[in-house]
Formats: sequence, C-alpha cells, structure tokens
Amino acid sequence: MTTTLIKNGTIVTASDRYDADIYIDKGVITMIGKGMNIPADTVLDASGKLVMPGGIDVHTHLDMPFGGTTSADDFETGTIAAAHGGTTTLIDFAIQNFGEGLYPAFDGWMKRAEGKASIDYAFHVIVRELSDQAAHDMDKLTRNDGVTSFKLFMAYPGVFQVDDATIFKALRRTRETGSMICMHAENGGVIDTLVKEALMKGQTAPKYHALTRPTRAEAEATGRAIALSEMAGVPIYIVHLSCSDALEKVKQARDMGLPAYAETCPQYLFLSYDDYERPGFEGAGYVMSPPLREKWNQGALWKGLAQNDLQVVSTDHCPFCMKEESQKLLGKDDFSKIPNGAPGIETRLYMLWEGVRKGFIDQHRFVQLMSTSPAKMFGLFPKKGTIAVGSDGDIILWDPEKEHTISAATHHMRVDYNPYEGRVVTGAAAVVLSRGEVIVDHGVFKGAKGRGQYIKRQPGHPRL
Ligand code: URP
Ligand code: ZN
Ligand code: ZN
Repeated sequence: MTTTLIKNGTIVTASDRYDADIYIDKGVITMIGKGMNIPADTVLDASGKLVMPGGIDVHTHLDMPFGGTTSADDFETGTIAAAHGGTTTLIDFAIQNFGEGLYPAFDGWMKRAEGKASIDYAFHVIVRELSDQAAHDMDKLTRNDGVTSFKLFMAYPGVFQVDDATIFKALRRTRETGSMICMHAENGGVIDTLVKEALMKGQTAPKYHALTRPTRAEAEATGRAIALSEMAGVPIYIVHLSCSDALEKVKQARDMGLPAYAETCPQYLFLSYDDYERPGFEGAGYVMSPPLREKWNQGALWKGLAQNDLQVVSTDHCPFCMKEESQKLLGKDDFSKIPNGAPGIETRLYMLWEGVRKGFIDQHRFVQLMSTSPAKMFGLFPKKGTIAVGSDGDIILWDPEKEHTISAATHHMRVDYNPYEGRVVTGAAAVVLSRGEVIVDHGVFKGAKGRGQYIKRQPGHPRL
C-alpha cells in the first residue's frame, strides 16, 4: 500500500474547518482538494466524519521500571491501545541510571520500542544526576539524535529528586541547543515529611497518598521551577499539572510574558479526591503523583485549557495492575509503596471530546490540545500535528456521534482496571491512519507490531 485517498470528510485542524479530500502518497499528504477522483490503493469514505490530525501523547511510561515493579504496558500493547484511542505518535521517558551518562538510557529505550511499537515514537530523557558526562550527552542527544527534552523531578527523594543547583544547571544547558526541561513539580521534602508522619500515625490507606501531597507543595515547586527557568533565561514545561494552585503560578508567569508552559491530563479533568474514598483498596487504582484533587479544581483546569494557560493534554499513562501481587498490591499495607501511576493512553481523546460536548473548548482547541500544540512544543511540527501538504498522513476519522462505554473488559491496555469504568462517552476515532496506513478500522487493529518509527525531533524553543 503506497497511496491512500480519504474522500467526503470535513477536515478540522487547530485553525480551519472545510470539506475536502486528502491524498497520501508514501506516507505523506501530497494533495488536499475538492472532488478528487484519483486512483489510490486504498480509498476511504469519510462521510459524516471529522478528519483530524492523529493524536500526539507527549507523556507516557511504557515498560518502565518504577516503584519496585514495571509499568504493565510495553511498547507493543501500549501503542496498540494508543492507536485504538486515536493517538498516532507518543513521546515516552527514558531513564538515566545512576553513575551513567544519558546514552545508555536512550539506547535502552530504543531497544524497548524497536520491533514492538506500532505507532511513531520519540523520547524525553529523565536526568537523575547531572554529571559532566550527562551534561555533555544532553547537548549531543539534542543535536544528533532528536532528543530535545529532558525531565527533572523535584520530588521522589533518593529516586529521582534533584536539587535546585542541578535544575538551574540543566536549564542553562538547554539555552544554546534549543532543548527544553520538563518538570515534575512537587516539593519532595515536604511530601516526604508528611508521608513519614502519616505512616507513624498508622495512616496506611491509599487516600493518604493524596492527603500527604497538598496542592501547595505542587504550587510551590511550580513557582520555584518557573523562577529558576527565568533566571536561566529559558522556557520550561511543567508536566501533569493537577490543580488550581499550581495553575495560578503558570498563569502569573505567562501574564509576565515568561515562556512557561504546562500540560494537564484527563484524570485531573474528570476524576477527583473522591476516588480515594472508594471502599477497600480500590483507591490504589487512582494513586498517581500529583494526586487527584478536590473536584472544584477541574473547572479551573478547563478554564486554563480554554485560555491557553495550559497548552497540552497528555496522559501520563503509567499503568499497574490492581490484582497482581507485584503491582498496586505492593502497597496494600502502606500507601507509600503503591506504585504511582494510572492507565489512560487509550482514553485521552474520548475524555477530551467530552470537553467539546460540554462547551468547555471547541473542536479546534481539541485538535490543538491533543495534537498541534504537543507537536509544536516538542519539535514534531509540521511533520506531525496537522493536516497539510507535506505532513505525515497521521489522521483520524472522528465519529462525533459514536457512543462508547469505557471498560477494562474491552479496552486494549494491558491493565486489569480502567479508572473511568462504565462511563459512556460520545465521539470516537472510527478509523486511524499512521503515515497513510489504516492501523485501526472501526475497532479492529490492522497495524503491524514494529511498524512504528523513531522520530528525531527538531530543537528550538516554542512560543505558544
Ligand atoms: O504517578 C505518576 N505520575 N507516575 C508516573 C511517573 C511520573 O512522575 O510521571
Ligand atoms: Zn512526573
Ligand atoms: Zn509521568
């Protein structure tokens, strides 16, 4: 299959909406026009569908060793699940080992993905210690290998947390090369103290995960990270922002004209602290960091998305099974041992479209948040993130009326629960194309394991 023609659809991008056909040759869009009658190997009828760029999820953890176990989806199952949900590109996190530079992390994650991924992928690298070697590797990875972003943590002492000096040095390192720091912004010292105190009092249930991670700890770290980036003279991207307190810090910085950016995730828009009050150990399925917040925060986050104080919706997909001894159950007697993370790689577009249906955002903002801005933020645009001549044929035919019930019984993620179990959503990716190839056709996976390609990203600081 080398050519594909998509006919009779309504193209919706971040900026435009019009009826036109799309011709894709060898994976790349070569023509967009009305009434095209050109022979093609595959012809798709998109009548009644919105034709949108494929989703880009810039925050996933596939096959990741974490919390004494490994996330349940690998690059095979995770990318198939992503494709079912309309995501055609993801950026995963490769983790530096202590005592090593960054190349072993990059090479290791390439091995994890190669031959398994069915959609295109790229990597951020998590920096745990900024040795001379690591600093040198940051530059080399950016210039030579298309790794243009690095994640630092202000939480998880002894595991990932780095101090302010390291953060400042890493931020400065991004100035010359045009790479960017992604920050996990929570005050690890405060949280660690609260966690120890809670455990001393015998407070071991999952809900204490949330109660020991106050919104102020996220806001303080968010503000500090932005201040450090201002002093370093570079942009910063705050990952998985969960609450109004932290959003205020980003908003303030952006109002001052600083290049501060942030993503939120569907779990913070639709789930809340109440999920930790579920009976028994059920709350463990919602243990993630930052934790779910009081419900009223959701309105502030939607407003942030609508007003561009938040630029991206990613998933932070990091699944652990509820019923396997070596996964969430590790923390059955101690919330601090519950592996942090939840599944979401497949459900991002379903959930975000609910925001369109409720009138919180429009269709164009939907495309921008799930595809165009992620592409621009992380050096994938215009190859990915839009429908234009010269862009990859990564396209979804979105059926805005299709009803779908979210359930672990039918999802494709390799995890035994779904945080949105039983929720009925309207709007789904009926057909998903990656580089012109149909990889999902009305719920049936048609792609091939390993067909996904590593994408070298372009450096350069965003202005979004
Ligand atoms: O709980 C979370 N977020 N797990 C994944 C790791 C991270 O901090 O992103
Ligand atoms: Zn994080
Ligand atoms: Zn994460």
